[in-house]
Amino acid sequence: MVLRSSFFIASILLLTACGGGSSKNDAIPSESPEEKGASLYTVNCASCHGEDGKLGSSGAKDLSVSKLNDKQIEKIIRKGKNAMPSQEAILETDANIKLVIEHVKTLKNKP
Ligand code: HEC
Repeated sequence: MVLRSSFFIASILLLTACGGGSSKNDAIPSESPEEKGASLYTVNCASCHGEDGKLGSSGAKDLSVSKLNDKQIEKIIRKGKNAMPSQEAILETDANIKLVIEHVKTLKNKP
């Protein structure tokens, strides 16, 4: 138990320290689907789109005003578009892609 919780804290510190760098997709095995989607987004998407989806770095579209549906979001994640490279290999699994799509949709509701 002690070992487990210190691993958990170490993972959090690692994630915070990297801040969207190249850390592992599944650094925290015990997180909920929502948390996993959010951390996948932070690690793989926030460098261009920003935590709130509005950053617009390298011409990235503002995800908070995006009107795309699940299928369209999935296509862009898998195939990429213009300056956005395909994220399919980086996200590794279909399950991870689904979690990220769910997280992208939560960004739309934020003012
Ligand atoms: C290297 C920078 C970069 C990264 C990393 C990146 N994107 Fe993008 N993204 C872009 C750019 C640039 C566009 C605009 C493409 C276009 O339409 O020309 C875009 C567009 C999108 C769109 C379409 C929005 C719209 O309304 O047209 C979605 C959805 C999206 N990105 C999701 C993601 C997700 C999810 C991730 C992480 C898995 C991600 N992006 C990672 C640069 C990036």
